[in-house]
Amino acid sequence: MGEARIPPMGLGTYGRTGDAGAEAILAALEIGYRHLDTAQSYDTERPVGRALRRSGLKRDEVFLTTKVNTTNLSRDRFLPSVRASLEALQTDRVDLLLIHWPSPGDAVPFADYVTALAEARDRGLARLIGVSNFPIALVDRARGLIGADAIATNQVEVHPFLQNRLLRDHCAAAGIAVTAYMPLAKGKVADDPVLQGIARRHGAEPGQVALAFLLRLGLIVIPASARPERMRANFAATALTLDDAERAAIAGLDRGGRMIDPEWGPAWD
Ligand SMILES: NC(=O)c1ccc[n+]([C@@H]2O[C@H](COP(=O)([O-])OP(=O)(O)OC[C@H]3O[C@@H](n4cnc5c(N)ncnc54)[C@H](OP(=O)(O)O)[C@@H]3O)[C@@H](O)[C@H]2O)c1
Repeated sequence: MGEARIPPMGLGTYGRTGDAGAEAILAALEIGYRHLDTAQSYDTERPVGRALRRSGLKRDEVFLTTKVNTTNLSRDRFLPSVRASLEALQTDRVDLLLIHWPSPGDAVPFADYVTALAEARDRGLARLIGVSNFPIALVDRARGLIGADAIATNQVEVHPFLQNRLLRDHCAAAGIAVTAYMPLAKGKVADDPVLQGIARRHGAEPGQVALAFLLRLGLIVIPASARPERMRANFAATALTLDDAERAAIAGLDRGGRMIDPEWGPAWD
């Protein structure tokens, strides 16, 4: 259900802080990005708000996602933190609000922050809600608490070297869109010979091939770059079509290559 409502090509804003960050995000909006992914912990909510204001675009022309930090999951902090995010973003509602990570060490009870997430939506602070870095077991626990249809997306690490098949299949069966974070494996896709070979055949770049592969799987992608020329190339990946043999070759690159794996993180599938 989530796929139709979240633009499949978004801009990751991690690293786009301060004035330079706002400039880069504005450049992305000028290139055509209409989905911006920020988080309380990135320090990019203000630059996103400033770029959106300066772009002259209407608020409803851009899909905004933010994420509640692990330090704000408790009942007393959750909603105030979301209101602070809205203030930083210069808006009265985000399109999508995510739990950034499950509470490390279960410091905050799971039911507390999952129900607070639904409450944020019910109070009109977010149009859609979802989760991030949730393995299958936690996705199912959350659905049990707030409803089978409540979760629009699970944002997790997915790229050619970590294809996360089990989780993707589970989410697809549950009607939950998967958003692929770090879809370029932090730029490492550029060095892969298989992706380079496919890119040459298309007169494209390996990063575009990686993104086209993920989009064809039905995923939402949120690549990041500080450079407008790369933002443009990444955005153009929506127009690149890979054939079956190319997609099979990229499927073969999966090697469980997880890059984000904090010791306090959840037990992955
Ligand atoms: N939910 C979570 O826990 C979580 C965790 C991590 C990330 N995220 C989200 O996902 C977004 C993307 O992840 P990410 O920024 O970590 O990694 P990424 O998008 O996979 O890769 C970004 C890196 O790749 C380089 N790059 C960008 N386009 C390229 C291209 N076409 N060819 C080669 N290199 C390229 C960039 O360098 P230049 O800047 O020099 O171009 C940058 O170093 C983040 O911004 C954030 O919004 C979420």
